[in-house]
Amino acid sequence: MNNPTYISVLNFKGGVGKTTTAITLARGFAKKSYKTLVLDLDHQGNATSGLGIDKNEEFFTLLELHDEVFKKKKPFDEVFELMVREVRENLFLLGGNVKIHAANNALAAESVGRERQLARLFSNLKGYDVCIIDCHADSSEITTNTMMLADYLLIPLTLDQWGYDGLSDVLTRLSSYREILGEEGVKVKVIGFLPTKVKLTTGADGVKKDQLLVAQGVRQALQEQFPNMLLPDIRFSADIEKAQVSQQTIFDYENFNFKSNAAKDYWTLVEKLEKELFKKGRAKNGK
Ligand SMILES: Nc1ncnc2c1ncn2[C@@H]1O[C@H](COP(=O)(O)OP(=O)(O)O)[C@@H](O)[C@H]1O
Ligand SMILES: [Mg+2]
Repeated sequence: MNNPTYISVLNFKGGVGKTTTAITLARGFAKKSYKTLVLDLDHQGNATSGLGIDKNEEFFTLLELHDEVFKKKKPFDEVFELMVREVRENLFLLGGNVKIHAANNALAAESVGRERQLARLFSNLKGYDVCIIDCHADSSEITTNTMMLADYLLIPLTLDQWGYDGLSDVLTRLSSYREILGEEGVKVKVIGFLPTKVKLTTGADGVKKDQLLVAQGVRQALQEQFPNMLLPDIRFSADIEKAQVSQQTIFDYENFNFKSNAAKDYWTLVEKLEKELFKKGRAKNGK
C-alpha cells in the first residue's frame, strides 16, 4: 500500500478560507470514493467542528499521537487506528483543539531534525488515498513541519492586500527552507493559488467599486508574477456560513445538489485536482 498524497492548505493570513477549503475538498474526494483523511492541526479546531464533531468533547489529537509513538514507542498503526474517527463514508478525521498548542511545543522541543518530525511520524501512514491538512495561520513549528510532510501546498487567498501578503509570506518561507535544506530537502510543490470568497459585481450583493479594483489588481499581479498558478475562483456564497453553523460541509448542507456558487466551484476544484493528482489511475487504497 502507498502513502497518501498529502495536501496542506496554507496561508499565513487567517480568514482566507483555508478551513472551508480543506474540509470541502476532503468531503469531495471522499464522495468520489477516495479514502480521505483530514488532519486538523489548528488549535481552534474549526475543521473538526466543520465536520460535525464538538470540539469541547474529549478526543485524541496530534498531541497524543506524537506522545504514544515517539515517547512511548508504540506502533503507529495500532495507535492511529484508535485515534482517528470516521466522520462520513470514506472520510476520517484526526481532530484538533487547544491540545494542538502542546503538540506544537512538543515538536519545537526537539533539538535535531525538528522540521521533519511530522514527516517521520506519518511515514507509516498507509491505506489512505489523500490526506488534507488544515493549519492555523501562524508560522508555528507545526506549519513548518507540514511543509516538509506535504506533497502539495494549496494556498487559498482572498483577493485583497492581506490575502496576497499571506501568500507571499508562504512562498518566501518556502524559498528560505530551500536555501537552507536544498531542493532535495524540500520536495513540496505549490499546486496553486485559490481565490476564495470572490465577488465579481458591485452593488447591493457585491462589493464596493474600489474593492473590486483592488481584487482586479491582486489577480493581475499574481498572473504576471506566477503565470498559471491561479486556480478557478471560489465565489462568495452565504450558504457557506449556513453550512458552518450546522457543522457540515457545503456539499452535505446542500445534499450534493450544488445549489450555491461556492458548492459548484468547490466541486470543479475537486474534479480538477483529481485529474492532476490521480490522473495516472493509481489504485485507490481505500478500495
Ligand atoms: N466562498 C465563501 N463564501 C462565503 N463565505 C466564506 C467562503 N469561504 C469561507 N467563508 C467564510 O469566511 C470565514 C473564514 O473562512 P475559514 O475557512 O475559516 O478561513 P481560515 O481557515 O483561513 O481562517 C468563515 O466564516 C467562512 O464561513
Ligand atoms: Mg482555519
